[in-house]
Amino acid sequence: AITEISAYEILDSRGDPTLRVCVSTKKARGCANVPSGLSKGKHEVAELRDGIGKLGGKGVSKAVETVKDYILQALVGEDVREQQKIDRIMMSLDGTEDKSKLGGNTMLGVSLAVARTAAILTSQELYSYLGGVGEFILPVPFLNIINGGKHASSGLDFQEFMIVPVGFDTFKDAIWASSEVYHKLKEIIKEKYGGIHTSVGDEGGFTPPIRDPEAAVILLEDAIKASGYAVGDNFYIAIDAASSNFYNEEKGVYTVNGKNYRKDELLEFYLKLIDAHPVKSIEDPFYEEDFESFSELNSKLRKKGVLVVGDDLLTTNPKRLEKALEKGSVSGVIVKPNQIGTLTETIRFSEMAMHSGIKAIVSHRSGETDDPFIADLSVALRNGAIKAGAPCRGERTSKYNRLIEIESLLSGYSEFAGRRFFI
Ligand code: PGA
Ligand code: ZN
Repeated sequence: AITEISAYEILDSRGDPTLRVCVSTKKARGCANVPSGLSKGKHEVAELRDGIGKLGGKGVSKAVETVKDYILQALVGEDVREQQKIDRIMMSLDGTEDKSKLGGNTMLGVSLAVARTAAILTSQELYSYLGGVGEFILPVPFLNIINGGKHASSGLDFQEFMIVPVGFDTFKDAIWASSEVYHKLKEIIKEKYGGIHTSVGDEGGFTPPIRDPEAAVILLEDAIKASGYAVGDNFYIAIDAASSNFYNEEKGVYTVNGKNYRKDELLEFYLKLIDAHPVKSIEDPFYEEDFESFSELNSKLRKKGVLVVGDDLLTTNPKRLEKALEKGSVSGVIVKPNQIGTLTETIRFSEMAMHSGIKAIVSHRSGETDDPFIADLSVALRNGAIKAGAPCRGERTSKYNRLIEIESLLSGYSEFAGRRFFI
């Protein structure tokens, strides 16, 4: 039973404050860190931040107090193995739709730390505690190696250009090959634009001085080929447009590379890009309220086997997923625990998607920590894909390195999803 919950302000990968929570029972103590997004969806649960004081008011000392003053009392004596009950207690204590009273970040820290403590208490690896018996699947990684949008200052409007190593037998082979492509891309950028342009954005991807999304896709293709791999065979390409960030709601236009596009024109832009390049997944192609344009693109891309993925559109929220299912808006979803604030709801959301034949991609945030929780979560869910940034920077590699470790722990008793994720 829970005897103590402690919380601390720590730093995330952007140097901003975030929360670490530790839960204790007599026999076990487990901790978890909370990530934080920058290009957030409007419908994500609220983050409890101080609003005043050091570091631009981004401190989380109020969240620390909330754990001590409210959550501990409500959870003391509870069994850490009763995850759903504990999450439900916190939800009713909070009592708001957007978790603004306790804070989604506060609740998630406790929720994840409870799970980790339960795993330690029952002497299990976290993925095994969360995932039970049965064969595990190692997810195919989506590696964001060119950063744009809010994660860079190059002026590239689309936020993420990812390589997806589908044509490999193991997770480790896939990451090793991706790292080769990453290094080759650095060489190519250095040669083309000069060494000053090989600095990286928030998720560890390069930030070359280009503004045309197609030029970024071509850079990825060049790097894949120059590394000796086959584009469209060993590697697919995936894009996160994060288009709410370049949409003007008043004018109803999207501005890409200095040019304005109506939604039908942007749709044509995507179709052309996908016809010319092996882009197999496009995330947030339209702004976060436009379920209809998502549906239109999805109906065109379904036949081509290209995923239309909802992130800001859905914010890991089962209610928004229901609407997207009704309208046929997506064939894939992003799963981000901190968008919804509890582990129970995160799992419910991904299972709801997968049961409806929708692909689920477990994801990090641009503001991360060294906590690899989502690596274990993805193996447990058997969802088959994970987004964790470039194969570089500690907060990104912590997830990939944990997956390498899990693959080795399972020594032959797991499968790497690879291309099958897309089928
Ligand atoms: P964020 O971006 O973590 O800054 O919100 C990630 C994404 O849009 O997928
Ligand atoms: Zn996104």
